[in-house]
Amino acid sequence: MTTMESLIGLVNRIQRACTVLGDYGGEDNAFSSLWEALPSVAVVGGQSSGKSSVLESIVGRDFLPRGSGIVTRRPLVLQLHKTEEGSQEYAEFLHLPKRRFTDFALVRKEIQDETDRMTGKTKQISPVPIHLSIYSPNVVNLTLIDLPGLTKVAVEGQPESVVQEIETMVRSYVEKPNCVILAISPANQDIATSDAIKLSREVDPSGERTFGVLTKLDLMDKGTNALDVLEGRSYRLQHPWVGIVNRSQADINKNIDMIVARRKEREYFATSPDYGHLANKMGSEYLAKLLSKHLESVIRARIPSITSLINKSIEELESEMDHLGRPVAVDAGAQLYTILELCRAFDRIFKEHLEGGRTGGDR
Ligand code: GDP
Ligand code: NA
Ligand code: MG
Repeated sequence: MTTMESLIGLVNRIQRACTVLGDYGGEDNAFSSLWEALPSVAVVGGQSSGKSSVLESIVGRDFLPRGSGIVTRRPLVLQLHKTEEGSQEYAEFLHLPKRRFTDFALVRKEIQDETDRMTGKTKQISPVPIHLSIYSPNVVNLTLIDLPGLTKVAVEGQPESVVQEIETMVRSYVEKPNCVILAISPANQDIATSDAIKLSREVDPSGERTFGVLTKLDLMDKGTNALDVLEGRSYRLQHPWVGIVNRSQADINKNIDMIVARRKEREYFATSPDYGHLANKMGSEYLAKLLSKHLESVIRARIPSITSLINKSIEELESEMDHLGRPVAVDAGAQLYTILELCRAFDRIFKEHLEGGRTGGDR
């Protein structure tokens, strides 16, 4: 691993430990600020625009509930932790700390069950997030947030207030300055009516943290194409638009796996008369690369402020530990101790990095 990867990995684990700790210590201590310091990536868009599908392909794993209608009914905060090459991939929920999932079909089922536990088997939504961590050698250290889709009308079984509730919930994530927005619009609808663009333009008027993603290119009417959007003429964003072809509902029903889906997507762009010239800047894999490059540069720029936050946390935690006394038996104490150890490791690696004289990073 590069120094940068180790540092990002440590902050990721600190964030995870802070999550486990919950609200302990209140809102405005140094490690609650640490939570906000690192970027996360959230998806925004209308219902069934393909948000969950896009997140899955960024992770490269099938584990999210997808489908037509309102499927995602609670926020899912997904932390990806990169582990040593060759180690086994597994997932863990915050609400089931003692259980390791190695079967990702069971992860999907648990997301559905845990959604139902909170909302009942209705179409109700809840702002209480589900926290899931995936440990794998094949991911980048990253926090992704799947959100319910914006909608204009309540459906059978939902109160009228649901439209506003969803918007408020989505907004509470994407208005944070550390949130990178994946604004998802389906290509078979007019971009001028895109909920994703409308909301992201409100919370990020300069467009510096918004990535426009156009899904369902394969579902456009014959004889039309999305070049005006993809080439930035319809709606210009700071970052380039990325076109995507996710699995269709028929593909999902046939259990078409991720590898096959990616190959089909690559073939789609490579052989498309409309998009052939853009083929190397389209698709899920390209989007994942673009995002991780962006995040790395954001984090690189924030390392000094993260470092000073970490130093402050170390101080606060050390005095906290003095109060609690060591060894600590209570859960909160053990968790604080974990955070302290992680912060110290971060500080050590960062100092070695500086002494190595490679302050500009290790490209
Ligand atoms: P979400 O509600 O925004 O999270 O959307 P989902 O990811 O659950 O997808 C909704 C439905 O649209 C599913 O049936 C997907 O198979 C389908 N879908 C999503 N993206 C595409 C795409 O690019 N092409 C096609 N053909 N179908 C898609
Ligand atoms: Na859906
Ligand atoms: Mg969804």
